[in-house]
Amino acid sequence: MKLVLATGNKGKIREFQEMFEEKVVPFSELLGELDIVEDGDSFGANALIKAKTIYEKLGDEYIVISDDSGISVPALGGEPGIYSARYAGEDASDVDNLNKLISALKSRAIKQTPAYYTAAIAIVSKYGEYVVHGWMHGVVIRQAIGDKGFGYDPMFIPDGYTQTLGELDDEVKKSISHRAKALKLAQPIIEMLQQKGQR
Ligand code: IMP
Repeated sequence: MKLVLATGNKGKIREFQEMFEEKVVPFSELLGELDIVEDGDSFGANALIKAKTIYEKLGDEYIVISDDSGISVPALGGEPGIYSARYAGEDASDVDNLNKLISALKSRAIKQTPAYYTAAIAIVSKYGEYVVHGWMHGVVIRQAIGDKGFGYDPMFIPDGYTQTLGELDDEVKKSISHRAKALKLAQPIIEMLQQKGQR
């Protein structure tokens, strides 16, 4: 069975490809651009919506994998949460979103507060649907430091570190990230499905 990723994000495609010997195909190579409405109320629900939509279009020779992720700040009622990618509006850039989160902390006079990233990975095939999660805990601060990573990374200090993910090496992030943890759980499920498909 062929592995298809329900994302066009090059970074995510590379992370998945590193885990498997066989080629992982982005869905757009097979289906072109698709506008999928992610109207679920959790990361897991949104990941599943994406994977199911693509699977239903491709058929049962495919294993479709999707992910949904974001950052949650309990002191802000869980914001931005599932709205992380569009916190500052539908067409907001990563910098717009980061600046909105910094403004939200400043408007409540919060200097530093706990936060966590969540990654949900959904896997859909003729053998059923699976969803796994990974988390990375830390604090957010009200300034952006460093230019590594992406999104909210320059304002996020992971537990056990004193620098932001904007300053820390990519290798550090790879070893502790929410996505890496979810990928570790997804890998054996995908391998099991591939083996079933070969029988
Ligand atoms: P997705 O592509 O729909 O999963 O949206 C993820 C959004 O959450 C991104 O636009 C980022 O704003 C944020 N996000 C998720 N994971 C990370 C991360 O590892 N670092 C920084 N921001 C992240």
